Amino acid sequence: MDWGMKNRLASIFNQKSGKTVMLAVDHGYFQGPTTGLKKPREAITPLLPYSDCLFVTRGVLRNCITPTANVPIFLRVSGGPSVLGELSNEDITTSMKEALRLNAVGVGISIFVGEKNEDRTISNLGRLVNEAEEYGMPVLAITAVGKEMARDARYLGLATRIAAEIGAHMVKTYYCAEDFDKVVEGCPVPIVIAGGKKIPERDALQMAHDAVSKGAAGVDMGRNIFQSENPAAMIQAIRAVVHENYSVDEAFELFNELNNKKVVSGVVE
Ligand code: 5RP
Repeated sequence: MDWGMKNRLASIFNQKSGKTVMLAVDHGYFQGPTTGLKKPREAITPLLPYSDCLFVTRGVLRNCITPTANVPIFLRVSGGPSVLGELSNEDITTSMKEALRLNAVGVGISIFVGEKNEDRTISNLGRLVNEAEEYGMPVLAITAVGKEMARDARYLGLATRIAAEIGAHMVKTYYCAEDFDKVVEGCPVPIVIAGGKKIPERDALQMAHDAVSKGAAGVDMGRNIFQSENPAAMIQAIRAVVHENYSVDEAFELFNELNNKKVVSGVVE
């Protein structure tokens, strides 16, 4: 691996734990003003001190994130359809030049295994990797899961392995309670988990805990953080699980403690 590629990847992984807490805030690229992200600047800014990396589109980055924020940027570079259309009909929307201009440490693209445009989205991943390799830019492949697909180890194992075989340097996928360790084993590059739909805070902490225990390299979590009743408390509790080996009980206690103090961005209000 090139020095630049290694250096970019190293910037998002905690030196001590070897893991990462990425904050996913790209949802508007197909969902529009998502609950919890209606005002992106206000929602994201207090969470930046606790994010190892921000997964974001260029539009929100340029308009809502201060360039002086000391947070590595993974740029979503795929899109096309809205939530009203055929979701698998994605293409590459943002150039490598743009990713370099925005000082991104990586680029992310969705693939839709088993969906209508499976082959095109997988080819897009291949083309993106070809270009990214020229610049030492890591590629995160996101295994989007259609409504009809079972989120089980067989499907997730298939999708993550394909992403890695095509050349992704990291893969984001969903957690499955059964055999997630087999999904990790079958994928030769680091896996981070998306959180999926909002669930109770303790359940989301349990999911992060179990995923990391079974080999995930961290999380790239969105709704279970920014839709929490206290996003700053939730991301700190997630960090405690991912980086400091907190048990679920300990992390939930931390969440409640911070929530009761109404801690926002380290400041007690
Ligand atoms: C959407 C994405 C999101 O970044 C991903 O789903 C993570 O967010 P969440 O934790 O809300 O699922 O890639 O395609």
